[in-house]
Amino acid sequence: MTTTNDLSDMVRAATALFAQAETPAALENAKAGYLGKTGRITELMKGLRALDIEQKKTRGAAINQAKQAIERALDARRRALADAELERQLQAEALDVTLPGRRRGSGGLHPVARAWERVEQVFRSMGFDVADGPEVENDWFNFTALGNPPDHPARSMQDTFYVDMQDEAGHPYCLRTHTSPMQIRYATAHAKRHAAALARGEIPEIRVIAPGRTYRVDNDATHSPMFHQVEGLWLGADVSFADLKATYLNFCRAFFENEELILRFRPSYFPFTEPSAEIDIRFPSGPLAGRWLEVSGAGQVHPQVVRNMGLDPERFIGFAFGSGMDRLAMLRYGVSDLRLFFDGDIRFLKQFA
Ligand code: DAH
Repeated sequence: MTTTNDLSDMVRAATALFAQAETPAALENAKAGYLGKTGRITELMKGLRALDIEQKKTRGAAINQAKQAIERALDARRRALADAELERQLQAEALDVTLPGRRRGSGGLHPVARAWERVEQVFRSMGFDVADGPEVENDWFNFTALGNPPDHPARSMQDTFYVDMQDEAGHPYCLRTHTSPMQIRYATAHAKRHAAALARGEIPEIRVIAPGRTYRVDNDATHSPMFHQVEGLWLGADVSFADLKATYLNFCRAFFENEELILRFRPSYFPFTEPSAEIDIRFPSGPLAGRWLEVSGAGQVHPQVVRNMGLDPERFIGFAFGSGMDRLAMLRYGVSDLRLFFDGDIRFLKQFA
């Protein structure tokens, strides 16, 4: 029969064996030798059967103590192995916080979008409303209402993309060739909104710009099938060509941040203005100095166009202009090929971010 000393030897041996186990699986194997079905403790318990009642009590209690000691040693070793494993994982996944970070490239606005925002900002400061309208436009707004009836030769100057669709009045749709249809849309809505004031004989002023995308069948260094324009319209009781000159000069000086910039008006023709002009600008200094640069069409709104807006040309007079927004952006940022704006080359675009 084993003695109490034997039991403490056994506990020591078990503890030593557990300490040698380097993995949880090895530890569970070592455990089986003591606490398993055929383990030492189990065998010792079976041995109790041969003892008398008193011996059973003392011996049983001693075996139980040894068993608990082995279980504690097992638990301690289990925890130690788990801690070691956790430590190993933490080491393996450790972050080197001294490594330089990988930055996300910061985005930036497209140069045309920047010019667009700037145009809005400057005109807003001069009391202009900003309007937006459809890019798929019908014939009436894009051409006919603007004094450009079907079969008029001026239409061919603005060849565009047609959409296989008609409105209730039978007007075909196309991608708008300019932002000028917004003159009609905005003024018509304005006339409806102010119907009561108009009936009282008042002359509620219209002062609006409409920037946006426009389309034509054109593609070279200075023309793109999709491009941007900004339309302007100022109508009231007494809005003159002098107001057009002052407004446009103020706009250009603010937009280009150049108080010395000057304008030139050249006679021109548009079916929706009379008289009509092209507006050129000139910088007195800088890389573009000394050249006249065309930036806009403009003119006094034709009486028939005012009528097409649902307004009385005897009471409403004023001007309109339509400027190439990509052109404004090219001049402001010194870009010589329009296509660069639309190629999506990040090396080009990055320079404006
Ligand atoms: N819509 C014309 C074009 O795209 C530009 C233009 C000229 C607009 C004269 C106007 C204007 O409002 O008055 O060629």
